[in-house]
Amino acid sequence: MADSFAVKLEEKKYYPDPQLKAGAWVPDYTQAYQEFLRDPEGFWDGIARDLSWFEPWDRVLEWKYPYARWFVNGKLNITYNCLDRHVAGGLKDKPAIIWHGESGENRVLTYEDLYREVMRFANGLLSLGIRKGDRVCIYMPLVPEQMIAMLACARIGAVHSVVFGGFGPEALSMRINDAEAKVLITADVGYRRGKTVPLREIALEAIARTPSIERVVVLRRASPAVELDPVRDVDYAELMARSAPECPLEVMDAEDPLFILYTSGSTGAPKGIVHTCGGYAVGTYYTTKCVFDIKENDIYWCTADTGWITGHSYIVYGPLAVGTTVVIAEGTPDYPDPGIYWRIIQDLGVTIFYTAPTAIRMFMRYGEGWPKKYDLSSLRVLGSVGEPLNPEAFEWFYHVIGGGRCPIVDTWWQTETGMHMVTTMIGEPMKPGFAGKPIPGAVVDVVNRHGDPVAPGTGGFLVIKEPWPAMLRTVHRNDERYRVYWNTIPGCYTTGDLAVKDEEGYIMVLGRADDLIVVAGHNIGTAEVESALVSHDAVAEAAVIGKPDPLKGNVIKAFVTLCVGVNPGDGLTDELARHVRKTLGAIAVPAEIEYVDRLPKTRSGKIMRRVLKARELGMDPGDISTLEE
Ligand code: WTA
Repeated sequence: MADSFAVKLEEKKYYPDPQLKAGAWVPDYTQAYQEFLRDPEGFWDGIARDLSWFEPWDRVLEWKYPYARWFVNGKLNITYNCLDRHVAGGLKDKPAIIWHGESGENRVLTYEDLYREVMRFANGLLSLGIRKGDRVCIYMPLVPEQMIAMLACARIGAVHSVVFGGFGPEALSMRINDAEAKVLITADVGYRRGKTVPLREIALEAIARTPSIERVVVLRRASPAVELDPVRDVDYAELMARSAPECPLEVMDAEDPLFILYTSGSTGAPKGIVHTCGGYAVGTYYTTKCVFDIKENDIYWCTADTGWITGHSYIVYGPLAVGTTVVIAEGTPDYPDPGIYWRIIQDLGVTIFYTAPTAIRMFMRYGEGWPKKYDLSSLRVLGSVGEPLNPEAFEWFYHVIGGGRCPIVDTWWQTETGMHMVTTMIGEPMKPGFAGKPIPGAVVDVVNRHGDPVAPGTGGFLVIKEPWPAMLRTVHRNDERYRVYWNTIPGCYTTGDLAVKDEEGYIMVLGRADDLIVVAGHNIGTAEVESALVSHDAVAEAAVIGKPDPLKGNVIKAFVTLCVGVNPGDGLTDELARHVRKTLGAIAVPAEIEYVDRLPKTRSGKIMRRVLKARELGMDPGDISTLEE
């Protein structure tokens, strides 16, 4: 691992309207942070008391490096906090979910509706033999049923593993097998750009290799309805129709697992990040409320898919625990035209809009004409997540979408952190290019490889120095990989990101330090793509790098050596792209494939991706060796 390096910082500041600060849940960041530092456990204890527990905790935190237990012996159910208490507390008629479909229709589920649907589906899962601790895989498009399925699992203590609907059969079966899921919940199709995505076909291909799957629940959307296997398959609607709308919840220990979510690792196999019930509920509730500064009448839209951590924490659990109205929209940001997002904001009166830099950069390309056609005056707060929000994109988002009125919360966090860790809290001065400072509750720093803080203006490794409630507890069936997070840099959780702080403590995230590529905000492991390529008969070896891209942040470039006697000839590149799409899914398809005679390697035979990267970027390999392991 390299040591620190110098970074040139350009700074510009935006001062928000002082009224924003005065009315915010956290009106004074500095004071809140000091209060947290004075008594971290007292700080989290206070927040946890906002939620409903069946039994209180004995201790806020038990920390035996690197293992944490939060709210020890506390008992709760996260769905009670997301549903029951709102229904009982006067919010039953408030819209919980507003779903927007590609063909323009809206579907509204109130808190009461959602509550009933979740209980019906929970009963349905029980009738299929699912019990507390069993794993259930959810492979669905962005529809309310996806959220209902997640919440139904949580209600009965089943552990969900949601797999993003863009993944292919290989990625899906690997995740099902690792989690040993008993039930798969899927849909016949998703809708994307007016076409259908054949989710069920992909799922069928995947489950041919997953012995643990006993039953498959299929949400049928298309007509004529697809035929189901009479023994294995269950129709979603029929299952709902035969299930009662009352389902007692499972009383969960704070440390019982809530879900597994797979994230790319730097070796081939994705890591099953395990989150637990109590700390995750507290961390997502608090950050949703305070970072977005959600108030009673907000209409909140997060454009992520529920299949990513952003969807888990900031579409489902956090926003519902806060009791807000959540908008979800199936489809893409440029279909039927590039004004669709702005039309949704106008028509639904969206007040908080949380999206990704890659989407913002795409909108910049389409020009100001599209947003200018719509009334965006309902917007109050803007959010960004997934990759660095570059200053140009910040400026555009701030002026063109926010009308110079709305603060931007650029939230840095990870699947592993479960909750926001760094941002510029509402009311604080914003610096384009900088995510901001650690939120009250998080201790985040930039250090060298020994764990010593580096000076302002010096780049280093972004680390977290103290446990936090929504932290991952382990990697499913691979605790060794969990320990790697905590034993790479002494005394710290290593995020794998490079960053730099300025004199005022603002953090700029520079990108990944390891073998991950962030493409349009999605983490992709080089090893996964390489093994998909090598699984093709024509390919001998492959090395994959991230190449900076003005739109997507990075795109994947693959260097491939072919088997003896094979020529790249016509169509091989398309064929390999199809092969990767089929195995891993469209998001992992290389934008470029270059055929080479041999790959640069270390003496021990490790492919030196940084040499390829340096060559690609026209740099001296020495320049970038300081940036990568
Ligand atoms: C990157 C997504 C800069 C980072 C929530 C991190 C960011 C990885 C930001 C986690 C941000 C996420 N600024 N980089 N605001 N947010 N990242 O697990 O490299 O899908 O380590 O979680 O995305 O990606 P993940």
